[in-house]
Amino acid sequence: MARILSAVAWPYANGPRHIGHVAGFGVPSDVYSRYMRMAGHEVLMVSGTDEHGTPILVQAEQEGVTPQELADRYNRVIVEDLTALGLTYDLFTRTTTRNHYAVVQEMFRTVHRNGYMVERTTLGAVSPSTGRTLPDRYIEGTCPICGYDGARGDQCDNCGNQLDAIDLINPHSRINGEKPQFVESSHFFLDLPAFVDALGDWLRTRTEWRPNVLKFSLNLLDDVRPRAMTRDIDWGIPVPLPGWEENPNKRLYVWFDAVIGYLSASIEWARRTGDPEAWRGWWTDPAAQSAYFMGKDNITFHSQIWPAELLGYAGKGSRGGTPGVYGDLELPTEVVSSEYLNVDGQQFSSSRGVVIYVRDMLSRYQPDALRYYLSIAGPETQDVDFTWAEFKRRTNDELVAGWGNLVNRTASMVNKSFGAIPTPGALQPVDQALLAQTSEAFGRIGELIATHRHRAALGETMRVVQEANRYVSETEPWKLKTDPERLATVLHTTTQAVTDLNTLLSPFLPFSAQAVHETFGGTGTVAPQPRIDEVTDLDDESRQYPVITGDYRLGETLAAWQSRPVVPGTPVGKPTPVFTKLDDSIVEEEIARAQRGA
Ligand code: MF3
Ligand code: ZN
Repeated sequence: MARILSAVAWPYANGPRHIGHVAGFGVPSDVYSRYMRMAGHEVLMVSGTDEHGTPILVQAEQEGVTPQELADRYNRVIVEDLTALGLTYDLFTRTTTRNHYAVVQEMFRTVHRNGYMVERTTLGAVSPSTGRTLPDRYIEGTCPICGYDGARGDQCDNCGNQLDAIDLINPHSRINGEKPQFVESSHFFLDLPAFVDALGDWLRTRTEWRPNVLKFSLNLLDDVRPRAMTRDIDWGIPVPLPGWEENPNKRLYVWFDAVIGYLSASIEWARRTGDPEAWRGWWTDPAAQSAYFMGKDNITFHSQIWPAELLGYAGKGSRGGTPGVYGDLELPTEVVSSEYLNVDGQQFSSSRGVVIYVRDMLSRYQPDALRYYLSIAGPETQDVDFTWAEFKRRTNDELVAGWGNLVNRTASMVNKSFGAIPTPGALQPVDQALLAQTSEAFGRIGELIATHRHRAALGETMRVVQEANRYVSETEPWKLKTDPERLATVLHTTTQAVTDLNTLLSPFLPFSAQAVHETFGGTGTVAPQPRIDEVTDLDDESRQYPVITGDYRLGETLAAWQSRPVVPGTPVGKPTPVFTKLDDSIVEEEIARAQRGA
């Protein structure tokens, strides 16, 4: 039993999210959190929408609304979509709450007081035509390190290095192509070199991380420079220092505030439960664990910037210092990063029309079909392609014909022959062998999920589903009409195996897990779902917003990760299919739809 912080990357509220996003941070974090709760751990799963920075500003300008209006609009869209996908956040909030502002400012003040925010004058880019500052990521040019010609002013996606816009060769604005002017401006830099030793000591103990993530993170330490944590921008959290706070054109860098969301959301969650100190159990207890979930473009921020902010707050860099009011906060136990989900070999891109939105997908397909696909064929350790043909094939062959058929024919036979789960006679070796397989699977598959090998975990579970289907083919219950005792034993055994498999599958397929439970006469909730609550900002009565939350208590709304004996006599009605078979035509329809949209 441990406390586990499940820290899920914060989606930008600058548009609806596509399935590549939820493949990276969404489904993996939910499968893990659901499993960990079933295994008896105290999980706190938090996130929210990321609402500051240039991505929001630029989109707001395009839509002709204020940044706050834009963030309000997409915060709601994202909350609805993530809820529809069944992601069990304890709290999914946003970065424009007063609570978040206060926590971020406390972090900044303490890191600054400890001497890790150094003020420097830099050359910032300005658009000659508008006179406005041009954010780094809106400048494109050739990477001075690797020569890639699509590098952005903040980082090069080809070689992964952090860049300064001024170092780009042939810089130009991505908004209108003009060459930026560089003018002097004062900023606070997080003194990353002061944390190199502490970060290295910490990273070298992270041996259980995915090798790519660990190697990338360690490599970052080879070339560490102070990094600007303020921006010349009018949308963001004010810099909480005299002379800066009043300046409407100086704000904290969006990434400085976004990663603090994990802490501020935990604090908001605690305040909302009525025990305002409850968050500390996940943050200041060295026995607590944390797993951070994201796509690979976020690694730097979670394995370097966020740990550096935490070390600075605790006074654990080379300049020393003392912690602020939150105390000594724990560094991430795990940074779990996914690779990219592509569509037919191309990266998702809303601007180029290469995109499949979560909302569109869920309007036509079952959430468990998407969760299944992303878990068994997702970008766990390498970039992968999403194709409609493969989505259709996996849904029909594996979910419908494999698992769905097992559930359906078992329930049908039980219903027709007995109307209820039958009492078994003496078990034969073939019965015992199947039940041994399903009950032994809990340890092995649980371990795979806990170590973020979801493809293997689900693949292994589906292998046991096949074994159960084979058992039914071999024991041929439809030929046992004249031997009711043997028939009862076979159907009891099959029902027990299906029930165990349903428990094993429920972190991946929570919607159908509940349906299968009810198919076999089960009552109550075994796989809880999140809900949307409309809440009032804790520190500003005039602000309302939707949050995702839920009741995921083990034993009350959630089944434990173990075999539960089925109860003979439980009535079983005529089943309706749990999964919808997809017509062959959906492949061409979806491809045509994408072409129309582009
Ligand atoms: N909004 C960022 C993105 O979509 C992710 C932020 S994760 C955070 O890439 F935790 F740092 F907020
Ligand atoms: Zn490069």
